[in-house]
Amino acid sequence: MQFRTLGKTGLRVSEIGYGGAQIGNVNLPENRVEEVLNAVLDAGINFIDTAAMYGKSEERIGRCISHRRDEFVLATKCGDYVGETDGQYHIVRDYSRDGILRTIDESRRKLNMDVIDIVQFHGLPDPDDDDDVAFEALLDARERGWTRFVGVSADGPAAAAAARRWPLDTQEFTYNVLYQESADNLMPTLKSQGMGTIIKRPISNAVWQQTARPEGDYMGGPWDRAQSIPLAELAGEMPILEFVLRFTLSHPDVCTAIIGSTNTDHICANVAISDGQRLSDDVIGKASVAFRERFGI
Ligand SMILES: NC(=O)c1ccc[n+]([C@@H]2O[C@H](COP(=O)([O-])OP(=O)(O)OC[C@H]3O[C@@H](n4cnc5c(N)ncnc54)[C@H](OP(=O)(O)O)[C@@H]3O)[C@@H](O)[C@H]2O)c1
Repeated sequence: MQFRTLGKTGLRVSEIGYGGAQIGNVNLPENRVEEVLNAVLDAGINFIDTAAMYGKSEERIGRCISHRRDEFVLATKCGDYVGETDGQYHIVRDYSRDGILRTIDESRRKLNMDVIDIVQFHGLPDPDDDDDVAFEALLDARERGWTRFVGVSADGPAAAAAARRWPLDTQEFTYNVLYQESADNLMPTLKSQGMGTIIKRPISNAVWQQTARPEGDYMGGPWDRAQSIPLAELAGEMPILEFVLRFTLSHPDVCTAIIGSTNTDHICANVAISDGQRLSDDVIGKASVAFRERFGI
């Protein structure tokens, strides 16, 4: 496993991290989650991403691996969480001062951690929210020692503006061969601010493996793009998944690529790709041209 420095945090993180959204699924058996989380650490991954909004993810991390606390860096998110009314689950967005501090405190309890490593906003506050109040509450959590570092998980120019305006440590955003926009509209700003970068959806959900268009924009959008970018041709001799992951890892400003998975074989296969070999400039150039030609960015 290769390690990189997470920007100004100075933390050394595995370039392949773990995305903890999928393990929040209430239908996954507890013993399976325990096996997956321990396999993540055993494979050499030391960066785990979760969120208050990811169902049972935080409490499972707390239950299954908090006894291995010195083996990983934990990033969670606030600004929204899963609420329950009369047995019905629903997402609550809350960027009020009280809401942010309460959510972070609750994350500390669920994760079984007095001090979280990183807390990020799960998206930017809504136009109706007072973003000064929201960001000051996040910074207050850092002052209180509830978290060592703070950041946001957001994409695009608005995310870049937040990085310029607030003293943040990290930013989480999408970057992969099908979604290269952040290389232009976000990463240069983050680099100039010395921020750590956490790449979500680094293999674009392996969406090219689906024969039919998945329902909804979350998977359908990437699937549409995968129909028009010639992934197999760009990958050449390489399996497509290896090419796609290597493309993400080849960007010099990427610190860690958090891949979601509930399959221990997939986790080990992904880790095996972290061997320090970058794609050639020629291949990266072709992938960049293919993207720009189709999406005009
Ligand atoms: N707004 C936000 O802040 C936000 C939004 C989206 C995601 N995230 C974070 O980013 C993480 C990653 O995003 P993501 O999970 O949506 O996308 P992703 O990591 O690009 O893709 C995950 C999918 O790829 C599959 N996969 C993983 N390794 C594979 C392999 N070797 N071969 C075949 N399939 C493989 C997984 O299925 P298997 O389980 O079968 O391996 C899973 O369905 C999330 O878990 C979450 O922590 C944050």
